[in-house]
Amino acid sequence: MAGNKTFTMIKPDATGAGHTGKIIDKIIEAGFSFKAMKWTQLTTADAQQFYLVHKDRPFYGELVEYMTSGPIVAAILEKDNAVASFRELIGATNPAEAAEGTIRKMFATSIAANAVHGSDSDENAAIEGSFFFSQRERTL
Ligand code: CMP
Repeated sequence: MAGNKTFTMIKPDATGAGHTGKIIDKIIEAGFSFKAMKWTQLTTADAQQFYLVHKDRPFYGELVEYMTSGPIVAAILEKDNAVASFRELIGATNPAEAAEGTIRKMFATSIAANAVHGSDSDENAAIEGSFFFSQRERTL
């Protein structure tokens, strides 16, 4: 059975462009509730660790540099079938391929600066949520 939690980050392009509030509104309008939320900035070591699964990809260095370039908002979200439902709301990784009405279609500028991250599985949602939030914060 699909889980009811996912993890997101609003990325530096979106926080820097003043889109944070609009993106949070879209997430709430889509029926998600925020279980934990944090405004912060990743260090290089943080970003390398968070995206370790992509370490052999040609874009890893660019991704780490980009994700440390400004503030991000990390959050744990709750809704039935959260991972799939959130990925539908944000749209394709490449905003050029994202469907009308999706967050990336509205706010992303490129495949790297793609406005938001969404976990790709229940397992990764739990791992990514623990990266930013304590056990107590995750279970409030
Ligand atoms: P995200 O959902 O955060 O997960 C991995 C990220 O890598 C992805 O969003 C993109 O921002 C980034 N990414 C994926 N493919 C590329 C690419 N070809 N060039 C640059 N960044 C990429």
